[in-house]
Amino acid sequence: MNGLLVHETRANHNEMIPTAHEVLGVVRETETEFTLRVKTDAEVHHGQFFQISLPKVGEVPISVSAIEDGFVEFTIRSVGKVTGELLRIRKGDRLFLRGPYGNSFPIHQFRGKDLVIIAGGTGVSPVRSTLRYFYQHRGEVPSLHFIAGFKDDNSVLFREDLELFRQRFDTIYSLDHDKVPGFEVGFVTEHVKQITFTDFSDYNVVIVGPPVMMHYVALECLKEGASEDKMWVSFERKMSCAIGKCGHCKIDETYVCLDGPVFNYSVAKSLLD
Ligand SMILES: Cc1cc2nc3c(=O)[nH]c(=O)nc-3n(C[C@H](O)[C@H](O)[C@H](O)COP(=O)(O)OP(=O)(O)OC[C@H]3O[C@@H](n4cnc5c(N)ncnc54)[C@H](O)[C@@H]3O)c2cc1C
Ligand code: FES
Repeated sequence: MNGLLVHETRANHNEMIPTAHEVLGVVRETETEFTLRVKTDAEVHHGQFFQISLPKVGEVPISVSAIEDGFVEFTIRSVGKVTGELLRIRKGDRLFLRGPYGNSFPIHQFRGKDLVIIAGGTGVSPVRSTLRYFYQHRGEVPSLHFIAGFKDDNSVLFREDLELFRQRFDTIYSLDHDKVPGFEVGFVTEHVKQITFTDFSDYNVVIVGPPVMMHYVALECLKEGASEDKMWVSFERKMSCAIGKCGHCKIDETYVCLDGPVFNYSVAKSLLD
């Protein structure tokens, strides 16, 4: 291809147009949640999201739950029109992607410091690729505490990964009410006091879940001595373009699709209220 043609191809590229990708596998996680493994060579960072679409159905923003050579995974809860249709996808089918979009967890800042990851329900999905990264590169952080909370035994996601993480991280897995071997009982907020932030020379805390969960977990961490500039959250906001043009995701002057979905808590605290 000559230089002029390359230039024209780029100029004609419309970042709103999705491209077809093959589904390499489907895992049913729970009654309503499922993981799609999708073929792609795109460069993706932990915490980013794609716009997934089905022709004549619609488009939805979904975080990557795993990033590996040649594929990414998405873990989706079927809640409505598009996600309900995605539930019918099978291995070998094709879906449409544009992205990746948004910023990512600052992995470079996490290296060499203790890391605490606290996630609730489907909030485990956006942090799963970060956990898998540090599972594979365990030496990059002195310690990794992972607290995951689910509503009940039927809501537990990523059972295989949770077992692997137990081997290399300090884990607390919890169900809101159910008593099940391997799980504590209670909300994730109740387990934060088991982390002694003052023991760390330096650290980062990642909190992902429903807004109310992130709010209370962050308050609990502050109570236990964590500083707000060491805490990170990830937001799910209704989106449309995902490229800063439509304003659907705006909270005050902040574009969640561009400035987020990952925010330092010192910024996020005003967005969470
Ligand atoms: C950055 C980002 C990352 C996301 N990552 C994931 C993910 O990894 N897995 C996942 O299952 N979902 C994720 N979501 C939420 C997902 O995009 C919505 O559930 C989806 O858009 C619903 O579309 P639908 O057509 O199936 O439902 P609709 O028929 O449009 O709506 C069904 C219900 O879901 C609500 N809803 C619609 N859109 C959103 C939204 N964006 N956020 C919250 N509630 C919504 C509606 O108000 C309604 O109550 C993410 C959202 C964002 C913004
Ligand atoms: S989704 Fe359109 S501006 Fe953010």
